[in-house]
Amino acid sequence: MSALYKFRRRRGASVLVLFFALAVVSLGYSGVNNLITPASARIGSEETLVTKGSALFAEGCSSCHGLNGQGTSDGPNLSAVGAAAVHFQVSSGRMPMAAPGAQVMRKKPSYNEEETIALAAYVATFGPGPAIPSEEQINEWQNASVSEGGELFRTNCAQCHNFAGSGGALTNGKYAPSLNLATPQQIYEAMLTGPQSMPIFSDKTLTPESKAAIIRYIQELNKSENPGGMDLGRVGPVTEGLFLWVIGIGVLIIFSIWIGARVR
Ligand code: HEC
Ligand code: HEC
Repeated sequence: MSALYKFRRRRGASVLVLFFALAVVSLGYSGVNNLITPASARIGSEETLVTKGSALFAEGCSSCHGLNGQGTSDGPNLSAVGAAAVHFQVSSGRMPMAAPGAQVMRKKPSYNEEETIALAAYVATFGPGPAIPSEEQINEWQNASVSEGGELFRTNCAQCHNFAGSGGALTNGKYAPSLNLATPQQIYEAMLTGPQSMPIFSDKTLTPESKAAIIRYIQELNKSENPGGMDLGRVGPVTEGLFLWVIGIGVLIIFSIWIGARVR
């Protein structure tokens, strides 16, 4: 006890304590960060997810898609669409569709991310289909090549979405939307699932690396479109991390002031 007390009084001891506190804060930070990042980990086991999803589905989707996703005259069979299609459709606000008929439009989502993942987990039990891409797959665009992405975009996407990604009319009164609101995850999922008249780009047609390059290119297009900078709302995990860092550093400052007062 007294040895520790003497040690603390030595010159430079407060610096040591500060380093120790820094280490503790960064360890704590990465631990908390791992906890908040994977949404599925926050919600609980696969089983509770499916149970939750089945209740949400019965309430909000079954009137058009049938209780077991078998389809009705108002909505298609969902037995092989997979979790990725559900995440794309629900997170972009297309589903639940307000009324059958015209082309479904992007709108404010009716379900939060956890409910969306639960719905996706439930629909995935109907049959095989593409899974929601992992966080690593989605974030791979940050390391991808813009010029390669531009080439792939012009050969695979521009005929419908326009060279600037601003969208365009298709036949039969349909249209391909502008790409400036879709998140990297939604772009990935759109390619995997081919909503409506968009073709499916399986991993054989476009490898995960090519998908990443295309996403990178679309991010560049969007950046040059609104020079105001990145929309903070779209980079959730980064904002949350920043928030934790600010708190962490605040705690550190208070702690070092306290040590300073004790040493004096
Ligand atoms: C009012 C009827 C209606 C409701 C309610 C509805 N859907 Fe749909 N859904 C449709 C129709 C019609 C389509 C086909 C739309 C299209 O491709 O243009 C569709 C398409 C989909 C697709 C894409 C299928 C594919 O082949 O890629 C998914 C996934 C989907 N719905 C999930 C849901 C989920 C989940 C809910 C509940 C949150 C829901 N839907 C609620 C009518 C509905
Ligand atoms: C044959 C035309 C066609 C081609 C080619 C095509 N798309 Fe699409 N895309 C569409 C249509 C139509 C929709 C709207 C679907 C809907 O409303 O359900 C769409 C929707 C999207 C969305 C959703 C946008 C939003 O705001 O929610 C993204 C992202 C997307 N496409 C990306 C791509 C990418 C990337 C490529 C190239 C790899 C591509 N598309 C190729 C027709 C096309």
